[in-house]
Amino acid sequence: MIGKPMEQALNKHLKEEMYSFYLYLAMSAYLEGLNFKGMAAWMRVQAQEEYAHAMKFFDFLHARGGTVTLLALDQPQSEWASVLAAFKAAHGHERGITKKIHALADKATTEKDHATANFLQWFVKEQVEEEATVETIVKRLGAVGDSPGALYYLDHDLGKRGK
Ligand code: FEO
Repeated sequence: MIGKPMEQALNKHLKEEMYSFYLYLAMSAYLEGLNFKGMAAWMRVQAQEEYAHAMKFFDFLHARGGTVTLLALDQPQSEWASVLAAFKAAHGHERGITKKIHALADKATTEKDHATANFLQWFVKEQVEEEATVETIVKRLGAVGDSPGALYYLDHDLGKRGK
């Protein structure tokens, strides 16, 4: 049975993952509006991954005899200054999520909650990949600059995700 403070912390993080879903869906809508359909599709797949992350917390809480409490989500931003700014914001967001996962892992260790510490290890590893993937896109966008041909190619390439 999970302890109350950890239950509360995991519910709070479940919300963070749902907010990530919401944020990336907002970025997908923004990119769709600019007609970067490949990037919009990439963000939509990313949003779906975040939903799956949230559901891992949902299932884990139940498996440990805890209670799931769905907290209110903030309204995400709907516009960014550029495509590059949106992906930079996504990278910054992932770095923030990594910090939150690490803080949760520290809490689980302090509380000698081995099951939660073990559960969180999957996320520690996942965050390394999440940060690296978005960072690569930020670098590619930075290199492309305003070149329409290169941007079109990158859009097409990112659109292959999930196909
Ligand atoms: Fe679920 Fe992208 O962190």
